[in-house]
Amino acid sequence: MAEKIFIGVAWPYANGSLHLGHIAGCYLPADIFARFNRLKGNDVLMVSGSDEHGTPITITADKEKTTPQAVVDRYHKEQIENMHQLGISFDLFTRTTAANHETTVQEIFLDLYQKNLIHKKSIDALYCPTCKRFLPDRYVEGTCPNCQKDGARGDQCDNCGKLLEPFELLNVRCKVCGGTPVRQKTEHLFFSLSTFEPKLIAWLKDKNYWKANVLKFTNNWLQNGLHDRAITRDINWGIKVPVFGFENKRIYVWFDAVIGYLSASKEWAKKHKEPSKWKEWWQNPEAKHYYFLAKDNIPFHSIIWPSILMGYDESLNLPYNIPANEYLTLKGEQFSKSRGVGIWVPEILQRFDPDVIRYYLAINMPENKDADWTWNDFVSKNNDELLGTYGNFIHRVITFTSKNFGVIPEADTLSEIDTEALQKIQETHKEVEAAIEQCSFKKGLRTVMNLAQYGNVYFDHNQPWMLLKTDPQRCKTVLNISLRLVQALAVTMAPYLPFSSEHVWRMIGHTQPIQQWDDALLELHTGTPLETPTPLFKKLELTEIVTTTDPFSKLDLRVAKILEVSDHPQADKLYIMQVDLGPLGKRTIVAGMKPYYQIQEITGKLIVIVTNLKPAVIRGVESKGMLLAATDADHVVSLLNPTESSPGSEVGVDGIAREPVPLLEFETFKQAPMMIDAKGNAVYNGKPLKTKGIIITTDRIVKEGAKIS
Ligand code: MF3
Ligand code: ZN
Repeated sequence: MAEKIFIGVAWPYANGSLHLGHIAGCYLPADIFARFNRLKGNDVLMVSGSDEHGTPITITADKEKTTPQAVVDRYHKEQIENMHQLGISFDLFTRTTAANHETTVQEIFLDLYQKNLIHKKSIDALYCPTCKRFLPDRYVEGTCPNCQKDGARGDQCDNCGKLLEPFELLNVRCKVCGGTPVRQKTEHLFFSLSTFEPKLIAWLKDKNYWKANVLKFTNNWLQNGLHDRAITRDINWGIKVPVFGFENKRIYVWFDAVIGYLSASKEWAKKHKEPSKWKEWWQNPEAKHYYFLAKDNIPFHSIIWPSILMGYDESLNLPYNIPANEYLTLKGEQFSKSRGVGIWVPEILQRFDPDVIRYYLAINMPENKDADWTWNDFVSKNNDELLGTYGNFIHRVITFTSKNFGVIPEADTLSEIDTEALQKIQETHKEVEAAIEQCSFKKGLRTVMNLAQYGNVYFDHNQPWMLLKTDPQRCKTVLNISLRLVQALAVTMAPYLPFSSEHVWRMIGHTQPIQQWDDALLELHTGTPLETPTPLFKKLELTEIVTTTDPFSKLDLRVAKILEVSDHPQADKLYIMQVDLGPLGKRTIVAGMKPYYQIQEITGKLIVIVTNLKPAVIRGVESKGMLLAATDADHVVSLLNPTESSPGSEVGVDGIAREPVPLLEFETFKQAPMMIDAKGNAVYNGKPLKTKGIIITTDRIVKEGAKIS
């Protein structure tokens, strides 16, 4: 009987492009699971949307000198498009600014408030007298009490990683105006999480089938005792608090976002003109709810969201499983929107077919431990496995059959080796099914790949090219069995590689899309004409991948601090500068800044330099780097200004991976022209240059279009 499967996938913040960490972490596993269940004939409802509120959005808007609305509109559109291009098959991908979502959140909020599960509490917070507002965590910065480093945020120090309270910071400042905030009482609404402790413990009792890491995180929270949590914030971007006296505050983004799972289900039902249909998943005790997310989101889904549901309406289903993944890393570093580390989805989609990306992410999925993305491994998995084993088997079988018979041939008497192959199909089918049902996606994929490998062995062993002359009848049987292997591969691979599976499916004579998981075991459409196929996948060359990348990716741009400046003895316009590149050490550069900046004026400044240009000897002095400055139409010259970054920090743009070459040619540098845009930001191809998420501007006002060199 058809099961009801609800799949909720973590809502990505609409404050930047998606990166491969997001896809490997939750969207791809969720999609494999959804596609598999639909093929099994189950009723799947898979929803998510853009997470559009909270300080992650307002901070991005401040940095990009635009409005929160403009930020979320831009990235919501991009996220929808990217999900579609990657084949992530949501039934609905909405947004938390949708009207239906806002009313659902307010309704739940009010309900909990009326049940006394939300209560008022007065707390100390930081207030900026200049900006006349309370400052949320991320709006304060200061010196970390733990490592003494300046630039720590109100919630965490990025340098030593310590979680902080805003008051703990030394020399605390308002991030907006730089002024000194003061401690002041403010009233907030708190969710009585502690009330739910016994209920949560009881509910978690039979969850021993959850992944170890998910249980560990959840139990840790419970062991530390559940504390009531503030669910309002002093910001003006978010869902309004439906309680008198809280007009100037907004609902905390996490409280708002998790409710999206329910509101999106309702929105989906309305859109399908069956407004009550969401209940088939939410109020039916037989329905199973799966939540896909990366590990930092676990407690929100295993503790907070279940508590909200329990408090609001006992008849609603709680999570059945939360198969959270670990992280995908890039050279060992966690992908991160805010730190600018990663491979961005819009960029990689321009370079590779979605199935090629899906294959590598699935076979290298961070299911139980972090997994590293390397281009080397990406290329070899594509060439050796996807193309070499899988694509090659399908291609040679179809090519050989179409060339020699033109149609799918009938099988004659089966020999032992043929029945063994048919059995192998049955086994694979069962094993893949079991693996995906347990959310062991990598294992499932390896099982399909084993069948492809088996197919190659079967084909080689039977040598149909010999049989063609010696025993054409036997040749037909071998091809018939080989094509049954191809058919089984197309179906069992469909959850993983939907685009190429569909293609193979059509090649072997089906006119309807793959609709049933058990199709893998059905008879072939013998007699169907076969055309000469075009190859499914392309061989990739590592060198080509590196050379076809954007020239900008080859630049190694860093923030540097000017330590010392002196006149170049041999030239009128040149300075010799000592710069500090933090972890990369100190070096000397020669720069033509003398006509534009005084020595006192620039000593101590943070600038941006190209560190990997071939060193040049300029009038007898070796320069190991070039500083970047903007020059406008009126010949006003300004240094680039990375404001609050630190020496050595990488500078890049969203969507372009940094792959600096060891010795950059000046010609290559010129292929990546940067300029100043209308807002005064330094941009490459319209995208702002950033360091640690901060947009690089100029030191002086220059006109739009000023060239950077
Ligand atoms: N936007 C959050 C993040 O990117 C995830 C929200 S998941 C939800 O980390 F459940 F709250 F929607
Ligand atoms: Zn301020």
